[in-house]
Amino acid sequence: MTLPQLPLNNGLAIPAIGLGTWKADRDDVARAVFTAITVGYRHIDCAAIYNNEREVGEALQRALQQRLVQRQQLWITSKLWNNAHLPQHVQPAAERSIKELGLDYLDLFLIHWPVSFRQDIVFPKKPDQYLPPDENRLLDTWRAMEKLVRKGLVRAIGVSNFTKSRLQMLMENAVIPPAVNQVECHPCLQQRHLLQYCKKEGIVLTAYSPLGSGDRPQKTRVKEGEPEILELPVITELAAQTGISPAQLLLAWGLARGTCVIPKSTKKERLKENLAAADISLAPEICRQLDTLDNGRRLISGTFFCEKGSPYTLDWIWQEPQG
Ligand code: A2P
Repeated sequence: MTLPQLPLNNGLAIPAIGLGTWKADRDDVARAVFTAITVGYRHIDCAAIYNNEREVGEALQRALQQRLVQRQQLWITSKLWNNAHLPQHVQPAAERSIKELGLDYLDLFLIHWPVSFRQDIVFPKKPDQYLPPDENRLLDTWRAMEKLVRKGLVRAIGVSNFTKSRLQMLMENAVIPPAVNQVECHPCLQQRHLLQYCKKEGIVLTAYSPLGSGDRPQKTRVKEGEPEILELPVITELAAQTGISPAQLLLAWGLARGTCVIPKSTKKERLKENLAAADISLAPEICRQLDTLDNGRRLISGTFFCEKGSPYTLDWIWQEPQG
């Protein structure tokens, strides 16, 4: 099995398949991460808000102590939560994740969302617990992210859930351009324009929820009776036609488009199955049929930041009207 790498704009390269740890229970995640490393994963996608970095760290330590891998063979990503956007809070937040993960440095640190909260709030319940929308604040956050690279705390920096306009704003003002934009991406939300822009600018697009996140907390924008993406008849049929699983079909398609994919699983057989997608090349006709499935179906829409009275709206987050 060859684990492909995607070159970044800073000379580093990121393994094109990573293990997602969002929604992985604390009870399961250490075993899942350790198993993932034993079956060949080298890229683990984490975040402070997933509330399981300590357990991920335990698995990393075990793998390192048992010499299954060396630290420099691993690619560990974490993300800055929305309550640490003010410049003075960025480094302490990065240091907290580094400590929880039991590491000396992160390979990649991302601004998780363009939405900002007060420092004492993990998830706002009242309007005054948000900081008002402010593009300039995001730029200040970025400048603090750049300092982390200079200090050697992180090797690369990037963003998540950023639109093309916000990336442009960073590209125009940054000293260190973002290496990665991590966004929801699967055949029903293909992010064509964003991907085209990212490729032009040398930014890697990492696809989160590449399998359609059937275990996501809010089953947003799925109509009554509408199947999950992995169960769409067209997906199961194309997978059967190719002799692979539906998950492998989605991941091989993501890899064929030059995106990085971070499927989440806590089950050994699925971890192996998902990683094996690296060796699958899809017939152009299969890719063409998948390309026709885009319907803008955003599963992780950010509605949880836009509850009544919030200064944020979906139109602001995505910078376009949300239907
Ligand atoms: P589990 O963790 O029980 O294996 P996403 O990566 O898009 O967020 O999707 C994660 C969801 O997809 C989880 O419910 C996960 O379940 C499930 N999943 C992961 N890999 C596979 C697979 N190969 N086949 C079917 N479902 C999978």
